[in-house]
Amino acid sequence: MSAIRPEEVTALLKKQIESYEGRLELEDQGTVIQVGDGIARVFGLSNCLASEMLEFPGGVMGMALNLEEESVGVVLLGSDWGVKEGDPVKRTGKVLQVPVGKAMLGRVVNPLGQPIDGKGPIVTDTYRPLERKADGVVYRQPVHEPLQTGLKAIDSMIPVGRGQRELIIGDRSTGKSAIILDAIINQKYTHQTDTPVFCIYVMIGQKESNVARTVAKLEETGAMAYSIVVSASASDPAPLQYIAPYAGVAMAEEFMYASQDVLIAYDDLTKQAAAYRTLSLLLRRPPGREAYPGDVFFLHSRLLERAVKLADHKVCPNCKNTNPLNKLHAYEEQAIFNKCASCGTDIKAVAVRRGGSITALPVIETQAGDVSAYIPTNVISITDGQIFLEGDLFYQGIRPAVNVGISVSRVGGNAQTKATKKVAGSLKLDLAQYREMAAFAQFGSDLDAGTLRLLTRGERMVELLKQGQYVPLPMEEQVAQIWAGGKGYYDKLPASHVQVSSAGFVEYLKSNYGQVLETIRKTSNHAEVEDAMKTAADAYFADYAAKFG
Ligand SMILES: Nc1ncnc2c1ncn2[C@@H]1O[C@H](COP(=O)(O)OP(=O)(O)OP(=O)(O)O)[C@@H](O)[C@H]1O
Ligand SMILES: [Mg+2]
Repeated sequence: MSAIRPEEVTALLKKQIESYEGRLELEDQGTVIQVGDGIARVFGLSNCLASEMLEFPGGVMGMALNLEEESVGVVLLGSDWGVKEGDPVKRTGKVLQVPVGKAMLGRVVNPLGQPIDGKGPIVTDTYRPLERKADGVVYRQPVHEPLQTGLKAIDSMIPVGRGQRELIIGDRSTGKSAIILDAIINQKYTHQTDTPVFCIYVMIGQKESNVARTVAKLEETGAMAYSIVVSASASDPAPLQYIAPYAGVAMAEEFMYASQDVLIAYDDLTKQAAAYRTLSLLLRRPPGREAYPGDVFFLHSRLLERAVKLADHKVCPNCKNTNPLNKLHAYEEQAIFNKCASCGTDIKAVAVRRGGSITALPVIETQAGDVSAYIPTNVISITDGQIFLEGDLFYQGIRPAVNVGISVSRVGGNAQTKATKKVAGSLKLDLAQYREMAAFAQFGSDLDAGTLRLLTRGERMVELLKQGQYVPLPMEEQVAQIWAGGKGYYDKLPASHVQVSSAGFVEYLKSNYGQVLETIRKTSNHAEVEDAMKTAADAYFADYAAKFG
């Protein structure tokens, strides 16, 4: 055994002491002073951040909402069963965030991003905060690309563009969710193009059986592959229902900032507002109109402002600053676009990146068609238009039950394809005239030929716009069907034959005039093939009338 040499030991000790760092960790910890109804009051967290995640014993998470002088009001994002007075509460130092990214696709998660579909853990290490300020106007561009829902009544008359916010509003059980489902299913075709649309369906306060049914339908149609379902069901605590839409839009932003397009539906915001009212009252925030807290408008405006069409941009390789490009000018001519606005680096050679988009379809439920209630008016004023669904129409069998008279799309027209725009022009006119005449015609018996013609046409167009669930139609087929209506081909048939003959016409085109639909799809225009369509329609409808007429 060798002897211990003191100089070696001292040297070692000295080295150890030199590299010693004070590893003192300061942990902020508070104490629960009151708990109940999913709300906890915590004492001693004087440095707590607004909407910071707090950890309770047993792994229950909470979110700090009320920062008061003596205590912090926390909503519990889970059951309050295990939490009791005197329990310690730990700060995490992080504001509420959710996992995001491609790994979430095909999954059903709760608003904390935890899987609830029993398909195992989600592997992703990218997170995004729930709350974020929306991009300013400089970083945006006008809506100009179509988002096809596959529903004739919507794509032709209330078109939605990528980056638009279009409200779906109507009474209970009028087919609001059905529109969303069809729109999501219809995005399948985009995944064969360069600009796929990913879908996020946020389900708030719905029955779990309903969530299960929806997910099963999405799986069955293959739509789940490019979708995420975020669910806070009716049995979940109010705080989870309140944060669900923000969790959804945080996941959407991950795609948008990767230059991709997202369709997000919030079904529905009425229930989210009610959940927010519940927790605000429990937090003793002062109630205002209809007992909602004063900031209930902000609840929805800050959410819907995050749906945008981003401008094309160059990212500075040096400082990572985003330099948006102005579409109105030729980029090359503008020296300003060749320099990073933040650090001045030459970015002439940097490739232009396409701006992604988030299209939002919020849903609001009305009571007896009352669109002037508090929450409906708020959301109507924030969105770029609304699809109004009416119970009366629904029960008459006009489904989707869209009231085209008071439904609008304020920006989507710019995004419509040329072909749709052209054929929809006469459709709108036909329907408007029909609505005007139909009311009078109920009383009169002697109608002149002109009025009769309008009524015949209108009746057939209403019939044509009826569409079943889960059968979204591609743009070119919609164009062909509506075009035939505008040219009066259905007028000679009984109204009950419109659905069958219009579907048959598309089939006929497919098998005998293959290039017609192909050309409309590729060029988004039908001027080139209108003659061929006419020849086809003459032959098909003559044949049809002979068989059934
Ligand atoms: N185009 C359609 N054709 C046939 N049936 C439809 C159509 N749209 C909706 N329905 C049916 O109408 C019923 C109500 O539709 P849906 O659940 O979408 O309405 P909702 O407005 O979302 O209802 P809730 O207020 O309960 O959320 C469903 O049974 C659905 O299958
Ligand atoms: Mg619904």
